[in-house]
Amino acid sequence: MTKKMTRREMLVFSSAATAATLMEHGARAVTNAEYIPRFQLPLRVPSILQPVHTDVDRDYYEVSQREAQVSILPGKLTTIWGYDGLFPGPTIKAKRDRSVVIRYTNQLTVPTAVHLHGGSTAPEFDGFPMDVMLPGESQTYLYENKRCAATLWYHDHAMGHTARNIYQGLAGLYLIEDDIESALCLPSGSSDIPLIIQDRIISDDGSLRYVAGLGNQTGVRGNALLVNGQPWPKLEVATRKYRFRILNASNSTPYRLALSSGQSFIQVATDGGLLPAPVSCSEISLAMAERVEVVIDFSIYPLGTRIFLQNLNGRGPLAEIMRFEVVNQEQDDSIMPLRLAPFEPLDERAAVRTRTFVFASSLSLGVPPLHWTINGKKFSPDHPIVEPHLGDVEIWHFINHNPKMLGVFAMLHPVHVHLVNFQILTRNGGPPKPFESGWKDTVALEKGEEVRVIMKFENYRGCYLIHCHNLEHEDHSMMARFDVIERLVNPA
Ligand code: C2O
Ligand code: CU
Ligand code: CU
Repeated sequence: MTKKMTRREMLVFSSAATAATLMEHGARAVTNAEYIPRFQLPLRVPSILQPVHTDVDRDYYEVSQREAQVSILPGKLTTIWGYDGLFPGPTIKAKRDRSVVIRYTNQLTVPTAVHLHGGSTAPEFDGFPMDVMLPGESQTYLYENKRCAATLWYHDHAMGHTARNIYQGLAGLYLIEDDIESALCLPSGSSDIPLIIQDRIISDDGSLRYVAGLGNQTGVRGNALLVNGQPWPKLEVATRKYRFRILNASNSTPYRLALSSGQSFIQVATDGGLLPAPVSCSEISLAMAERVEVVIDFSIYPLGTRIFLQNLNGRGPLAEIMRFEVVNQEQDDSIMPLRLAPFEPLDERAAVRTRTFVFASSLSLGVPPLHWTINGKKFSPDHPIVEPHLGDVEIWHFINHNPKMLGVFAMLHPVHVHLVNFQILTRNGGPPKPFESGWKDTVALEKGEEVRVIMKFENYRGCYLIHCHNLEHEDHSMMARFDVIERLVNPA
């Protein structure tokens, strides 16, 4: 009985969504879209943004947020909203403890805000969703980069607009480098390649479709998988090791990565930077906003070998993401070290308290009928849900509540905390998954799961966010403000 209702509910969702898609324009967007080429377009790597000015301790950048026409389908133009008109945005390279100043100008017709995901950023520059740039306005953000080397990303965070803004293109990479990393001789230069995975609905005229309607609260599912803004690209590789920085920048689609050859990934980093030691993983789950860095050694293959980066969650064309093709012999100077970066596990006994956060849904008769909540509450920008003290270590216990009657409204919630990186202590009472050791800023909770993480509040006081990184959940209130406050001095 519950199952039947579930299926019917799902149908209502998807048919409302499809109808909305088809009615909006005359163009066609189909699931098995033969008009989208697969494994033909060469992978593009986003360009590196050049500073407009540098001085002793800062690099200054200027970025516009604007509409542009880009090529996604061959011979067609697609309207996107991009940082500097690019899809994805240009990559920003920063160094640990050297500040970056970015002046953003909003040349779009919607409000925007920029968040540096994974950054330890002062609250006034963290992209709080109410702190928006209206069309025509500019804002300057200061990033002090007080953290170790890692693959971060910057993306939109405007209240109620985040999902659409990111879908249209407002996301890019932000790489922090440090001396520990550069001393390692990991594959670098042209063999250090970012892979930004995003699914999109692309119609036969090349236009991007953002599905509105009820589906808006649960998420968007694409009919095409894009890497660095191109559908199902191919990458020609040499017989050597490559480092891939993989980011799931999709609105609401989790991936499960594997190589079609059966070769394991050598994981070297996670959201928060290098692991203490490489970890061999035959598959890696990557929920929205998570990053993983892996080394793949193509020297084991004969020339001409084709290997697919697979998505074990996907069916049909969505079961593959891109293709590698081994095309030439090359000398490899990079080494795979046995140890990567120093790592100190946070001690549970150092935690001054444990706080519980329940991620759930709530239904009402209003419009929209479905809301996503944290501890039963919708996002309230004026009220902090918790107030940890600066300098404290805390354990946060995340629960994805899976209600018996409304099981259809239980979904994956990738929980993200601003300002801090955390370590996962336990997942459902057991150890974390093999690919989620080290430092993280986002953790995936499947329905019914619970995870305990530990973190220390450092660097800044002020107002920050915890939220689900399913962007449609985030926009429909699965977000909470927390304030880091000064510890009160006991007068007695
Ligand atoms: Cu990547 Cu608050 O987000
Ligand atoms: Cu963040
Ligand atoms: Cu969610």
